[in-house]
Amino acid sequence: MSHGEPLPRTVPPTGPLASAAVSSASSCRLPSCTIAVVGDVHNAWEHEDELALQHLGVDLVLLVGDFGNEAVEVVRAIAQMSLPKAVILGNHDAWYSATDWGRKLRKGSVHEDRVQQQLDLLGASHVGYGKLDLPALGLTVVGSRPFSWGGPIWKHGAFYRQRYDIDSFEASTGRIMESVKQAAHETLIFIGHCGPAGLGAQPDDPCGKDWEPIGGDHGDPDFAAAIAQAQLLGKRVPLVAFGHMHHQLRYTKARLRRAVDVQLETLYLNAASVPRILQTDRGRLRNFSLVTLEEGVVTQASLVWVQDDFTVCSQQVLYQASQPVLASS
Ligand SMILES: [Fe+2]
Ligand SMILES: [Fe+2]
Repeated sequence: MSHGEPLPRTVPPTGPLASAAVSSASSCRLPSCTIAVVGDVHNAWEHEDELALQHLGVDLVLLVGDFGNEAVEVVRAIAQMSLPKAVILGNHDAWYSATDWGRKLRKGSVHEDRVQQQLDLLGASHVGYGKLDLPALGLTVVGSRPFSWGGPIWKHGAFYRQRYDIDSFEASTGRIMESVKQAAHETLIFIGHCGPAGLGAQPDDPCGKDWEPIGGDHGDPDFAAAIAQAQLLGKRVPLVAFGHMHHQLRYTKARLRRAVDVQLETLYLNAASVPRILQTDRGRLRNFSLVTLEEGVVTQASLVWVQDDFTVCSQQVLYQASQPVLASS
């Protein structure tokens, strides 16, 4: 933890992610950049969040959904944010539309399609079953299946059939891969609302099931398959970011979820630190996950809390590339 100190911005690309990436490095050098990942918002979004992101000097903002329960006005504010961004909507963003019980709870006009309103507001920045090429950063953001509830069972079949003509995990993987094949860049960042399967089955793993019966991998199998297929195509995947599985474990308040995992050249990051805005005796604190990419390699990932004057009051380093060995003179 640091208090009020400037963030380390550049770390040479060494460490486990770098060693894998070096072997597949493309001939063109990628610009370095700082990426902010905004975990589950759940209505905690204020104008100060955009100001904080500007003060942090981020090059790209990834927002991984659950803005509220079909909270159109929150999504409107997100859509109006001027920073480069890519968004994927979460299960709460289809809270009253994807399930029978939700439709019964729905308030207001049943003719008002708030899922479509959110998609229309976000436009090209919504990458669920889509992608966003970012030439300035030399990478493409690819979105997994939007509105995911997570887990190994195909759910909400009517919703996905009507909206996307998708009726299985296999078809979903195929849809994600269409975006991968259309990507303008060889370096891909994947975002999903829920993370991919394969990150562990313990309740405190990045997508581990933390409610009764406790345990089990609640990641998305279609997402995992698409990442694996992209890598088989030779794509570089330095970062996979997601939320949905909140850091605070449901069955115990004593521990927090493991927020990162590293596999081959890829850092998997769960950004769902909820609530993401806290009212404290030192003012309002808001969290962001920050990822530093150096030449296409993740060199640092951290969870930071920003205070009212937009300085960072705490930083939890989640991943840090190893420091270079200095040659002795
Ligand atoms: Fe959530
Ligand atoms: Fe969620």
